[in-house]
Amino acid sequence: MNHEIDDIRQKAAADLQQVSTAEALDAFRITYLSRKGRIAELFERLKDVPPALRPETGKALNALRNDIQSLFEAQQRGLAGPPKAGASAVDLTMPGRRRWVGSEHPITQTLQEIQRIFFKMGFDEASGPEIEDDYHNFEALNFPPDHPARDMQDTFFISDKVLLRTHTTPVQIRVMEHQQPPVRVIMPGRVYRNEAVSARSYCLFHQVDGLYVDTGVTFSELKGTMVTFAKQFYGSSIKYRFRPSYFPFTEPSAEMDITCFLCAGKGCRMCKKTGWLEILGCGMVDPNVFASVKYDPEKYSGYAFGMGIERITILRHGLDDIRTLFDNDIRFLKQF
Ligand code: DAH
Repeated sequence: MNHEIDDIRQKAAADLQQVSTAEALDAFRITYLSRKGRIAELFERLKDVPPALRPETGKALNALRNDIQSLFEAQQRGLAGPPKAGASAVDLTMPGRRRWVGSEHPITQTLQEIQRIFFKMGFDEASGPEIEDDYHNFEALNFPPDHPARDMQDTFFISDKVLLRTHTTPVQIRVMEHQQPPVRVIMPGRVYRNEAVSARSYCLFHQVDGLYVDTGVTFSELKGTMVTFAKQFYGSSIKYRFRPSYFPFTEPSAEMDITCFLCAGKGCRMCKKTGWLEILGCGMVDPNVFASVKYDPEKYSGYAFGMGIERITILRHGLDDIRTLFDNDIRFLKQF
């Protein structure tokens, strides 16, 4: 029957080309589209097709009928000609067609919200290269030569001394190399890690680092700024805590947790039953970092912080697989 379907499709299209009057068009309709027409006849014979082939043939028949129907309708509109003088072709009472214009990617949305909060607090923005050198990514940030983060497993090396940056912290060095204090910037960007791809980690993701250097910057200012950020981003009712931590480029260092907003601290899947969610790392800039950029550590002090944008996005929307943020599946993205 497939041959016949193809034949009828071709023949109908050719016939329709010849149609130039309303009568001829009606004759066409009767031949092909009426209840006793050629397409109806094929539908009638569908019952003789072997059952295994029936669904597919039925589908092809439906497509044929729809195609010919729309060709017919197009011809019908053409024959009707332009609207008569005086009659408006525009129906002003018809509702407009909604056009789907797309939306910002959830990672972009999260970043924009972070930017909005820090810009309001007086931060500028800076960026740096994704292809970095060992010096900016590690050495100037006080990573000891045998630090595990330098290990081949975490870093994509391009050559001995050139790599894909593993964090946005090297931008801190680049900013301080070119600017004297006061410095107050956030530094968003893409980073890369040579890790096994899974629901929880991907080979690339995004971070925002922050840096504030001036005379007399204190840890309590760091805390105040982080708490202000967290309350604006997550809501003023969250509770928080700072835990001591370690980063080579800050001393002292801390990590900030907030109460899990899914279970309000009771313990659930998202917070792994702890009631707490880690949201960022931070600390006072290590004097060795100041030495790398020739800032006088006697004169200046500063704080730094860093957070993962995917992590925050995942927490915010309760997603369970980081890879969905990189698949670019429109059915997923449409929901944000
Ligand atoms: N660079 C760190 C990381 O990738 C995050 C970080 C922690 C950045 C503390 C900072 C900071 O600027 O002060 O895990």
